[in-house]
Amino acid sequence: MVTAICMNPSADKTVYLDKFELSATNIIKRETRDVGGKGINVAIALRRLGVPSSCMGIVGDKSLSEVIAHLEKSGVEARFMTVSGQMRTNLKVVDESSHQVTELNERGPEADAEMLTLFKTLVGERAKKSRYIVFTGAMPPGTPADYYRELMSVCPCRAVLDTHGEMLTSALSAKPFLIKPNIKELEKTVGRTLSTMRSILEAAREMTALGAQNVLVSMGAMGAMLCTEDTALYSPAISVPVRSTVGAGDCMVAGFLSGIIQNGDIKEAFRFGCAAGAASVMTEGTRLLDKSDFDELLCRVSLQSVQ
Ligand SMILES: Nc1ncnc2c1ncn2[C@@H]1O[C@H](COP(=O)(O)OP(=O)(O)OP(=O)(O)O)[C@@H](O)[C@H]1O
Ligand SMILES: [Mg+2]
Repeated sequence: MVTAICMNPSADKTVYLDKFELSATNIIKRETRDVGGKGINVAIALRRLGVPSSCMGIVGDKSLSEVIAHLEKSGVEARFMTVSGQMRTNLKVVDESSHQVTELNERGPEADAEMLTLFKTLVGERAKKSRYIVFTGAMPPGTPADYYRELMSVCPCRAVLDTHGEMLTSALSAKPFLIKPNIKELEKTVGRTLSTMRSILEAAREMTALGAQNVLVSMGAMGAMLCTEDTALYSPAISVPVRSTVGAGDCMVAGFLSGIIQNGDIKEAFRFGCAAGAASVMTEGTRLLDKSDFDELLCRVSLQSVQ
């Protein structure tokens, strides 16, 4: 069982326009609305890849039934604590002429100190029954930035962190099994631009020196790099028809975990992660990935060692 934490789920509303203009009235052509949140995405993608998963989090009471129904429909066990209010709405504005996406994200309801203490106890109990626990996505406003590290301190299983900023850096000392920054997040973390393979590898090695056991750097259409204690591998992105890149990183994390669980080998896990990331961009909007695409792409992943 893999447990994914989702402390601030969202209703992802995507609106499509011919062209998005600032300071103008924009007419919406069509729109979609889905339950979102990175932890939710990871848990559902895992299930699609055949790995039993659960999702634990905090949600506004008015949105609880919608979140539970969304997870259970995909076969994911859902365990949520509630705070008063609604989950946040994240609005994505898609300009179909340029394919640019503008995002407007709400902050979501707050969780008080008492709630956070109780949640930590429940996460610790859940972690005892899990092989991996994934910490990803935004936390409720006002939550201390080192809260993921606090949660990790009560988890006896392997921890995966897909987050950024202080939420990431403060948790490195707790020695996460895997971190998955994208290239922008890694640049922000080390405070410099990373434009060569060597510079990316050096930055990833800085993360391992600070405590991360394995570092998976995703670079969108440029592919991905895996840096472990003794190897560094690069995988160029597979050329696939791109429909939506939303959730590609979440699917990559799920793919990596399905690979390590099914094969026990970190190189295989990297291959699985790359295939899942590519499968994700082939599906529309927030549909995550189809297992059949993933199966076909697995043999198209190529790995090169990085010096
Ligand atoms: N355009 C693309 N073509 C092929 N593969 C892609 C493309 N975009 C992403 N991928 C695959 O998905 C992986 C993860 O993508 P990306 O780096 O965009 O993650 P991310 O920024 O964490 O995404 P998110 O947080 O929105 O889920 C990439 O490393 C790559 O393997
Ligand atoms: Mg990401």
